[in-house]
Amino acid sequence: MVIRKKNSVKLSDEVTQTPKPFVKWAGGKTQLLNVLLEKIPQKVNTYYEPFVGGGAVFFSLISNPEFKIKNVVLNDFNCELIETYRIVRDELDDLINYLTPIATKYLAGNTEQRKNFFYKVRSSVPDGRVEKAARLLFLNKTCFNGLYRVNQKGEFNVPHGRYKNPKILDVELLTLASHALQNTELICGDFEDSYKKAKKGDFVYFDPPFFPLSSTSSFTSYTKGSFGRVEHLRLKWSIDRLRENNVAMMLSNSPHEWIVGLYEGSKYTINRTPARRSINAKGGQRGAIDELIVV
Ligand SMILES: C[S@@+](CC[C@H](N)C(=O)[O-])C[C@H]1O[C@@H](n2cnc3c(N)ncnc32)[C@H](O)[C@@H]1O
Repeated sequence: MVIRKKNSVKLSDEVTQTPKPFVKWAGGKTQLLNVLLEKIPQKVNTYYEPFVGGGAVFFSLISNPEFKIKNVVLNDFNCELIETYRIVRDELDDLINYLTPIATKYLAGNTEQRKNFFYKVRSSVPDGRVEKAARLLFLNKTCFNGLYRVNQKGEFNVPHGRYKNPKILDVELLTLASHALQNTELICGDFEDSYKKAKKGDFVYFDPPFFPLSSTSSFTSYTKGSFGRVEHLRLKWSIDRLRENNVAMMLSNSPHEWIVGLYEGSKYTINRTPARRSINAKGGQRGAIDELIVV
């Protein structure tokens, strides 16, 4: 049996927010929530998200009283991210204690001091799990555009951002997230291994790294590996197996013709919906492009 340390952090009587992602994540689904939630059945036995990222859909679903979800399994290939989810779920007090002086020191600095402090934290390699989670949250809130990108060695390499007053430590948001994550199973690994037990009555929401629309629009470096045609094909075959086993699912992807071609046919319904990409290194490329929702 896993014994979890209980968090003592309580919600105040004046909670102003609902659970939301506590990290800014490329491909975050916040703007499309209504469209996506409409396609999820209201009663689900086990809800799986094999590419959870910032978890916008999970947090929205879990806090919506219209949905009755019995169990939740969240997975991502990014183990540092999943470890941070685990720390938020199980060791929030320690995380807050560790992050408080880091946030205070950064926010008290001038532009140059902030920049130096950012790069010092970025090059640090903490040993402890809580320290690692605090580092990820700090870098996520203070780096350029909230991107998570690593080099071939797996080292975080996003430069310093220029936020005037970044919310490095949002105790209320983290507490809400911690409550929402209680009783969830958190897995770090390849998507296919995370829903092997899925059966009728369960639901799987797939939000993989999008297939790039053009060679310059690719953003797939959430982790050391890459997600190319082979992975998208492997995902399609895995989704076919789910369909054969009557497991309900939904997939988000880019409207590239190769992806459309994979899912065209009687087995799947392809919907297109306009979406705005908010993380793009070139601000000028932010704009409305369609997203595919396959069910
Ligand atoms: C488009 S993002 C998901 C965004 C998420 N829906 C949100 O709201 O933030 C895709 C995620 O897939 C993860 N990923 C990449 N390759 C993977 C793999 N082989 N198995 C599982 N997850 C993977 C990335 O780390 C990234 O977090």
